[in-house]
Amino acid sequence: MKVTVTGTGYVGLVTGVCLAEKGHDIICYDTNEEKIDALRAGNPSIYEPGLKELLVKNSKDGSIQFTADPEKAYRGRDVIIISVGTPEQENGAADLSFIKEAVSMMARHIDQDCVVVTKSTVPVGTNENIAFWIEENKSPSLKIPVVSCPEFLREGSAIHDTFHGDRIIIGSSSKEAGDLIEKLYQDFSPPVIRTDIRSSEMIKYASNAFLAAKISFINEIANICERLGADVEEVAAGMGMDKRIGRQFLNAGIGYGGSCFPKDINALKHMADKVDYKFKVLEAAAEVNEGQSGILLEKARSLIGPLENRKVTLLGLSFKPETDDIRESQAIKLAKSLAKENAKVYAYDPAAIEKAKAVLGNSVVYCSSIEEALLDSEAAFIVTEWEDIIRFPIAGYPILMKEPIIFDGRNCLPQESMKELGLTYIPIGRKGIYPPRKQ
Ligand SMILES: NC(=O)c1ccc[n+]([C@@H]2O[C@H](COP(=O)([O-])OP(=O)(O)OC[C@H]3O[C@@H](n4cnc5c(N)ncnc54)[C@H](O)[C@@H]3O)[C@@H](O)[C@H]2O)c1
Repeated sequence: MKVTVTGTGYVGLVTGVCLAEKGHDIICYDTNEEKIDALRAGNPSIYEPGLKELLVKNSKDGSIQFTADPEKAYRGRDVIIISVGTPEQENGAADLSFIKEAVSMMARHIDQDCVVVTKSTVPVGTNENIAFWIEENKSPSLKIPVVSCPEFLREGSAIHDTFHGDRIIIGSSSKEAGDLIEKLYQDFSPPVIRTDIRSSEMIKYASNAFLAAKISFINEIANICERLGADVEEVAAGMGMDKRIGRQFLNAGIGYGGSCFPKDINALKHMADKVDYKFKVLEAAAEVNEGQSGILLEKARSLIGPLENRKVTLLGLSFKPETDDIRESQAIKLAKSLAKENAKVYAYDPAAIEKAKAVLGNSVVYCSSIEEALLDSEAAFIVTEWEDIIRFPIAGYPILMKEPIIFDGRNCLPQESMKELGLTYIPIGRKGIYPPRKQ
């Protein structure tokens, strides 16, 4: 099929290359010309495992093209996918201005009947507005039904998730339009679930809200474990054996971040407020997350005192491993708090340094290796569980650091090795290791 993907960010670019890989004729359209030029040269503006390889391969054989010209993007297409951002507004509601702008522009250029598919995460009822915005701008003779197909990919495994995710939701009020989108995805392995449009929109928010609540739940269990002398890792393993619960998303730590959970939770709260419903579980999940993020800093303050002029290490800047995305990253939040306390922050991340520089500026020293970040440091904060951070030899900490104190915000380092090496190790929701310290 001839498909245009509008908005070439994490979702749009991955969607575009995966559809091209399955033999569709893809045009990726974005208003950011710099991004389009880089993509034409084979350089994705984001880090995602396997993405560059697929991009280069499919660009070479002409299956995927990039343009900032709406004329070229929207003429003669069978399907147009919307994957522009829906960021949070100050009142928590989703900002739909990018959607409205993109839809109005596309509707003015579409020259044949086609199906518009919304992959962006949009509040319940938005696809009806999209249909209205198309109607306002399109040529009167054209039929352009709108289908909701929310995206569930996870950054860091986005290519895999697109080909092999858990489900593809297709919400439509037109059977033919829904059938066409089901056909578009016929060579992808996830099962297809057909729903009405509003339910499809809600499935996305409900899924993210549930996962966020699961994280906040285990974090509260962790906080109680610390006070009662239990070990949250053992608790999570035991709970997770129950198939009704499952082990995933039971990782205690300093809370969730990223471009989706925080904003989607707030958007859902806003939706509930608008219909006079108080979504208590969701409000609690967000509140717990807010409190959890400062937990490492509190532990550091109480163990080593004021951080002013102390050299500290931050390992990880992205909101999770295998991505360079720093939106709502707990690591960035911690970096800002440490800098505010006038600590000398030395940070390392294998992929997110360039993006972090844009928000942290020179409040942080950026290091190209873990060794460089740890050298002469008085405390190390583990914030993102990248593989190279997990695998870094524990024996290196006491050799490199001035005083080996590790605050593990992701419970990802081997606790057993810490004792043998005489390190001070403070995880979340489990007993810390506190050998006698130098005065
Ligand atoms: N990132 C994720 O992991 C993820 C997962 C599932 C769903 N989503 C949802 O998908 C949507 C996109 O998220 P993202 O992370 O890919 O965003 P992003 O910010 O990475 O990309 C959005 C792109 O849209 C472009 N854009 C903005 N206005 C445009 C317009 N009028 N016409 C064409 N392009 C325009 C921007 O230049 C940018 O390249 C959001 O609604 C998000 O909630 C994201």
